[in-house]
Amino acid sequence: MFALPTDQPVLSRPGRPSAPSVSTVEVRNVTDAEIPQWTRTWASAYLQPLVEGTADFMRETIAHDRVIGAFDLGQCVGTYRSSAQELTVPGGGFLPASAVSKVSVAGTHRRRGLLSRMLGMDLRGALERGEPVAVLDAAEYPIYGRFGFGPATSMAWFEIDVHRAGLDPRRTTDTGGVETVSADEYRKLAPEAYERFRLDQAGALRRDAMWWREATGQRVRPGTTWTEPFYAVRRTPDTGEVDGLLCFTAEETWASMVPRSPLYIRDLIALSPAAERALLRYAVTVDWVDTVHLPYRAPDTLAPLWLDDPRAARLTTLSDYMWLRILDVPRTLAARTYGVEGTLVLEVRDADGYAAGTWLLHGGPEGASCVRTTQPSDLRLDVGDLARLYLGDEAATRLAAVGCVEEVHGGALRRADLMFRTGRRSWSPRAAVRSAAGPA
Ligand SMILES: CC(C)(COP(=O)(O)OP(=O)(O)OC[C@H]1O[C@@H](n2cnc3c(N)ncnc32)[C@H](O)[C@@H]1OP(=O)(O)O)[C@@H](O)C(=O)NCCC(=O)NCCS
Repeated sequence: MFALPTDQPVLSRPGRPSAPSVSTVEVRNVTDAEIPQWTRTWASAYLQPLVEGTADFMRETIAHDRVIGAFDLGQCVGTYRSSAQELTVPGGGFLPASAVSKVSVAGTHRRRGLLSRMLGMDLRGALERGEPVAVLDAAEYPIYGRFGFGPATSMAWFEIDVHRAGLDPRRTTDTGGVETVSADEYRKLAPEAYERFRLDQAGALRRDAMWWREATGQRVRPGTTWTEPFYAVRRTPDTGEVDGLLCFTAEETWASMVPRSPLYIRDLIALSPAAERALLRYAVTVDWVDTVHLPYRAPDTLAPLWLDDPRAARLTTLSDYMWLRILDVPRTLAARTYGVEGTLVLEVRDADGYAAGTWLLHGGPEGASCVRTTQPSDLRLDVGDLARLYLGDEAATRLAAVGCVEEVHGGALRRADLMFRTGRRSWSPRAAVRSAAGPA
């Protein structure tokens, strides 16, 4: 049995300021009539303009989700939402996941445990709904570790200097199967191609119909402006099936009669290395473009290698991206495959109880099993560090070097690296549609 946390505010942790009004605050599901004030609280915390129509837009956004609010004497002072997602894990398995977003607490009520209460309520709900993990895109690194989340995938941003890339548009005639398409054609082709892509991409999440409407300008949040992008797809030479998607904007810019336009890639999804090569080289050879901005890529993206001079792709950001909270250890660990056949006994600490215990993992390239055990442990670690290992994006030896994983039994670290690490890194393609960076 899991030791489930209660719904009580945690007031006893050191450093927490006294919270005179916390007892008046109720944390519960939000009614439809409360969506306008819930939206106002969220918008102010996320520094978003609150204009006419924002609440209706939000009502549609969260229509199928679990929507929680904190209310102080009827006034909304905290917001939280989670939706049903599906996470692809190494080996092509899937885990139902609770995707957390719209997390905010009014400035007047911060640091009184309201996030803790809203998150606690939803994580208990996730387990009841049969979701063994929760995922989110953290606004700030220090927020979620204390709740048992760990950064499970990372992302890299590049700026490509097209003049150094060695791909001269005047001499690049092979389009590699890339076709420009209209927004309507893209809307028809992209969702299906992405669906095929994410089934095989560890770290990827589903994109629903609303995602595609927002990504293609059919749904624009009031108070924000939409810049119509350019769309392209790539088809495989043999079957003609779409195996790549590209969406970008560009700003026409000139300096002393020389074109210096930046091109911003919003989305680049490739189902094969050939498709990635074709789409990237297409973007890098658009006339009048000086710099290609390529955000939200896998940390081991092939992008630089498709350029004649890989140094033309300057890494501008390397950061954590998707955070993972493991709630059900046996189900989560058994869902993926492992690099080599092996056994590990993991002693997991979890202050909130969900994942706490000692777990026997048998895993290999064909599948895995995981059960509670009384055997002596091989490795000792916090649940957030297990999340860092889970998708193969982090090495146990690295975490041990900084004191986050303890090797109890010699050889276990090396075995963990061989088992958990993946050939290509896991990757979570961009989740939020419009914001340049920041949480969903
Ligand atoms: C982040 C936010 C929701 C936290 O809400 P809160 O109700 O103040 O959080 P809690 O009181 O439950 O805090 C729980 C713990 O997290 C810590 N914490 C909260 N926000 C933190 C932050 N931004 N950085 C570091 N630690 C933070 C608290 O200090 C507390 O630690 P403690 O238990 O050791 O005292 C709130 O500050 C906020 O709305 N920020 C702006 C919007 C935002 O960033 N949302 C997150 C989107 S992913």
